[in-house]
Amino acid sequence: MDFKALPKIELHAHLSGSISRQCLHEVWVQKKKRGETELEDPLIVMPEGKFDYNLDTFFPLFSKYIYGLCNDRDSLIYTTNSVLQDFASDGVVYLELRTTPRAIPSHMTKEDYVSTILSCISASNATSTLKTTLILSIDRRNDLPTAQEAITLATKHRSHGIVGIDLCGDPTSGTVSLFAPAFASARSAGLKTTIHFAEAPQTTTPDELWTMLSYQPDRIGHVINVPEDVKSEIRRRKIGLELCLSCNVHARMITGSFGDHHFGEWWDGGRGECVVALSTDDVGVFGSSLSNEYSLIAQHFGLGRQEICELARGAIDVIFGCEEEKERLRGLMWKE
Ligand code: IMP
Ligand code: ZN
Repeated sequence: MDFKALPKIELHAHLSGSISRQCLHEVWVQKKKRGETELEDPLIVMPEGKFDYNLDTFFPLFSKYIYGLCNDRDSLIYTTNSVLQDFASDGVVYLELRTTPRAIPSHMTKEDYVSTILSCISASNATSTLKTTLILSIDRRNDLPTAQEAITLATKHRSHGIVGIDLCGDPTSGTVSLFAPAFASARSAGLKTTIHFAEAPQTTTPDELWTMLSYQPDRIGHVINVPEDVKSEIRRRKIGLELCLSCNVHARMITGSFGDHHFGEWWDGGRGECVVALSTDDVGVFGSSLSNEYSLIAQHFGLGRQEICELARGAIDVIFGCEEEKERLRGLMWKE
């Protein structure tokens, strides 16, 4: 089966984690020429074939390296366009890209950062079959005012393509209960919400999981270390699940390999109560495109052509985009 040609929906992709190494290298070459960076070449820092980032090495890769390289308007525009192009070339027809609003000292405010990305998205949407919307992330290391600032930005720019709010960041840090008022504001502003859920065994306490569920998320991501009572509640509410195979295997977030992934349990031979949206998370870091994730699922869980198409189409029901977009996707994904 040609997994690239299959029209696909990507609902869990972090902008800065989706930049290819080649694109980072091109940004580095330009900066090096102008004497604007002391950082090492991305192709040396992140060699081809290195995907074994874990919780200790993954988050510093952004704070200590990628953010240091993508640190002005030109690099933000260049990398965002490259990410959109990569998803389009992989046969993605609808993308919900997420990013944490980031001020770049002496270059951009958080609002500039968000509106620059929205301009890239709008230009791409005008000419591509791929339609993209934006989710703003709250980093769990941050405080409540920072979270509220993300909600304010999302509300202000809703009509320009922001559809929701995400809670992300190092799962071993931060206090999730701090964000209750932010999630309440997001919901009352009519924004959809998604939460990185049960990623690391160290902090996946019943207290944290039930607090997250009390925020009434429309979707949850990863969903790895989940006790039975929480699983039952997720099934009862039919929450959309963003599952990321390669990321979880390479970062050793699960025990075992692809065939041991909890996708099998939630998919349950196509009978699972929750919609599963197969997602890449950080294709620039873990190196597996969405079409490759579908190929891995077919290979390790024995899904045939019909089931693969059902899996891909299932995600339509849990997108944060509007009814009109769902109709467009039904037209595209039921064509064959
Ligand atoms: P950005 O928000 O566009 O800058 O994308 C990179 C950021 O996404 C990282 O700094 C993390 O905060 C977050 N992120 C990426 N992947 C994961 C993940 O698997 N778990 C939690 N947070 C993540
Ligand atoms: Zn993620």
